[in-house]
Amino acid sequence: TEKGDTGRSAWEDEQIGKGQLRFGAGAGRAGPGSSGPAGLLMLDDLLQGEDIEFVLDQVAGGTPAAEKLTPAEIAAQEERHRARTIREQRESLPAFEYREEFLRVMEQNQVVVLVGETGSGKTTQIPQFLHEAGYTRRGRIGCTQPRRVAAMSVAKRVSEEMGTRLGQEVGYSIRFEDCTSDRTVIKYMTDGMLLREFMTEPDLKSYSVMIIDEAHERTLHTDILFGLVKDIARYRPDLKLVIMSATMDADKFSRFFDDALIFKMHGRRFPVDIYYTKSPEADYLDACVVTTLQIHLTQGRGDILVFLTGQEEIETVQENLQKRMKALGPKAPELIICPIYANLPSDMQNKIFEPTPAGSRKVVLATNIAETSITIDGIVFVIDPGFSKLNSYNPRTGMSSLLVTPCSRAMVNQRAGRAGRVGPGKCFRLYTRWSYEHELEENTVPEIQRTNLGNVVLLLKSLGIDDLVNFDFLDPPTPETLIRALEQVRASPVPSRHLHFPLAQLIVTICAMLSVNSSVFYAPKDRKSESENARLALTRPHGDHMTLLNVWNSWVETNYSVQWCFENFIQYRSMNHARDVRDQLLKLLERVEIKLVSNEEDDIAIRKAITAGFFYHAAQKNISGKDFRTSKSNQTVLIHPSSTLHKTPVEWVVYHELMLTSREFMRQVTEIDPTWLVEVAPHYYSGSDITGSETSGKGFHGEKRHKSSGSALR
Ligand code: CDP
Ligand code: MG
Repeated sequence: TEKGDTGRSAWEDEQIGKGQLRFGAGAGRAGPGSSGPAGLLMLDDLLQGEDIEFVLDQVAGGTPAAEKLTPAEIAAQEERHRARTIREQRESLPAFEYREEFLRVMEQNQVVVLVGETGSGKTTQIPQFLHEAGYTRRGRIGCTQPRRVAAMSVAKRVSEEMGTRLGQEVGYSIRFEDCTSDRTVIKYMTDGMLLREFMTEPDLKSYSVMIIDEAHERTLHTDILFGLVKDIARYRPDLKLVIMSATMDADKFSRFFDDALIFKMHGRRFPVDIYYTKSPEADYLDACVVTTLQIHLTQGRGDILVFLTGQEEIETVQENLQKRMKALGPKAPELIICPIYANLPSDMQNKIFEPTPAGSRKVVLATNIAETSITIDGIVFVIDPGFSKLNSYNPRTGMSSLLVTPCSRAMVNQRAGRAGRVGPGKCFRLYTRWSYEHELEENTVPEIQRTNLGNVVLLLKSLGIDDLVNFDFLDPPTPETLIRALEQVRASPVPSRHLHFPLAQLIVTICAMLSVNSSVFYAPKDRKSESENARLALTRPHGDHMTLLNVWNSWVETNYSVQWCFENFIQYRSMNHARDVRDQLLKLLERVEIKLVSNEEDDIAIRKAITAGFFYHAAQKNISGKDFRTSKSNQTVLIHPSSTLHKTPVEWVVYHELMLTSREFMRQVTEIDPTWLVEVAPHYYSGSDITGSETSGKGFHGEKRHKSSGSALR
């Protein structure tokens, strides 16, 4: 767009002249920016004229103490930091200076809102301070995190600091993985796990302190926790609450918790120069690669942090960076590429915390997990395309989708701050200053206002909370939306169906496999054809549910082998999750005394059972033959490319979920005979719903339509 230009002033142009960093565009090619630290490389060789021009625009101020330091002092400080013992590292954190004062405040108050700059030691130190002060003598200290990776990595760090084995005194609990023991006194957990604990221990009696961390993130689970812990604190005066947040919204939290005391920890922060691109970047992934190389080859010491929206983007950038570095040959200093995202295996997560060897540079490719939840030492440069992936719900279509969305100004400022922890830093924003001022929202909308409230209703109901209208929300949804959500839940067959759905052993298996969030298939970019072949070999006719069942059965035959997963490009971790869920479901069924029947051969019966569970998720191919139309809601949808039915001609399907990325996609799809819909859900479908279908009346991919023992159903 031309919009970017309107915001540019003569003042900015002057800044370009003065700016320390101008990556020789146009006439500036041979300028000082063109040769790398190696002194041999010309930037042009590498970038082939596609370099990006940045404008230094503003400097985000540091704290006075930090600004007084000279570069030599900073370098010396960094050097000392590397050599520090763990104890010295702890004592160098801003939190340490506040230790006594904080403990005093905790003695005098039941609820404290703790605000402190990211990286000041809130998450790692506060639970230890409380433990050292004796709070764990009468119960555990719990600390919630919105992200599993953060819960794991912080627990690991703290167990190292305390000199204990992870899972002993310090542990973590995330879905499907409980790494705690009877001895655990400091327990990090996802906010979702604490919600689950409420079901078994509604008064949290095993805890003496509960810390709700990353409160500013306002995830749905955290928002609900606020209401729950506030309630409990009223009749458990011995329970201490700490609400921890990175600077934003402290007053709001304080007001919500009956004017709780706000305790501020001032961190050390160095000034960060903020650069914007001169004009909007069309391809921000490519811009990330180019900017990383520009920094690597022209800038002094310091690691780079790049914010991307998800695993796919991270892999693309990683691959391109590797290619470009390879092309540069041994002349270029080493660039260590470290990805970090939610589903990264834990052994690879550790790599990002390893110190960078002298003479090389680390580039961390992260999702917004690195915004506030995880602090990586040594970052001097931040590259920020200004996007993140947000789950958002469209009440009109009833669809939740992960959308790449522009960040809020609060988020991008938080990101920039990550560059100023060890010394003065630089943040490169891959958008114009005009965009920053005019196109970004001030704050991110809390998840509770973006999500399907039906889920909130179900979640609260599962906690035994029926009076939703009077639930104490930090930001209450409007009564109308709440009432709509209640109606939706009542009308929808989902909840009760979920309970009665797993009637057969096989269906339980399929449910378990479906419950794994990410795909069980793994497709590394560099081994595409191999992984595709492996996948084809496991594929079964009629769609993804049958294929998932086959994957499960094949795995069981190998006695849950890791090696088999590895050879067949199956995510071992996901399979283990599925196994866990399956065990849980089977136990549940035992309790309600449902007889397990299974007849592997009866393919139709299984698919009918799936249809019975997902009849409200049916779709029919359009006349055009290109896309599908959902029954009842009449949305145009496609089969997701990851489905085994992606390229198969099918007329009627049921799907597990809809997902909006570039188009509206059905994920986990099974081919059905439309007459089954009337058979399994006569209250929902009548003959006229399916007569328009080209298939009805005809044979159905060679099957005898009415042959069905129905054993899986009844
Ligand atoms: O919670 P807050 O952002 O205030 O800081 P923190 O997560 O407690 O991190 C404090 C320091 O601990 C960081 O600056 C890191 O130096 C260190 N840390 C680490 O080395 N490894 C981790 N997994 C987490 C923190
Ligand atoms: Mg933290």
